[in-house]
Amino acid sequence: MSDQEKTKRRDFLFTASYALGAVGVGAAVWPLIDQMNPDSSVKALASTEVDISTIEPGKSITVLWRGKPVFIKRRTKDEIAEAKAVKLEDLIHPEKDEDRAKNSEWLVMIGVCTHLGCVPLGDKGEYNGWFCPCHGSHYDTSGRIRKGPAPTNLEIPKYEFVNSNTIKIG
Ligand code: FES
Repeated sequence: MSDQEKTKRRDFLFTASYALGAVGVGAAVWPLIDQMNPDSSVKALASTEVDISTIEPGKSITVLWRGKPVFIKRRTKDEIAEAKAVKLEDLIHPEKDEDRAKNSEWLVMIGVCTHLGCVPLGDKGEYNGWFCPCHGSHYDTSGRIRKGPAPTNLEIPKYEFVNSNTIKIG
């Protein structure tokens, strides 16, 4: 092999491993956290209570539940009206807003993009809801997919209101 060929081969190997490294980092995040979770018997019982009394209208918090981020958003009147005004036939994954939010002021969703698992950003995107920057999925103010590669709406976990200030997830 000539020196020139060796150099080319080295360059190729470097580029290939570099690309693999970049993909590896993103893909490794959830499996790694998943391995740290307790086994399924403990998981089945796991629930968490969240104090929502300090969340202002229009703001949201993110809590970790079973190793996944959960968005709790206190919606403004405009955001609720926007979510309710959408016709089901305009939706990629048709779901009524009232079937997604038990109390229309509060939206509780798993904050994992249904495309390939990135965490979407709040108050972003073309539908004033969430935007996933990984491949450009836009979710509306009900967390429903409106544009981009994600196939389904952001998932709603099992949750209930313990009282007006507390939500129990799980
Ligand atoms: S992971 Fe969100 S758009 Fe691909």
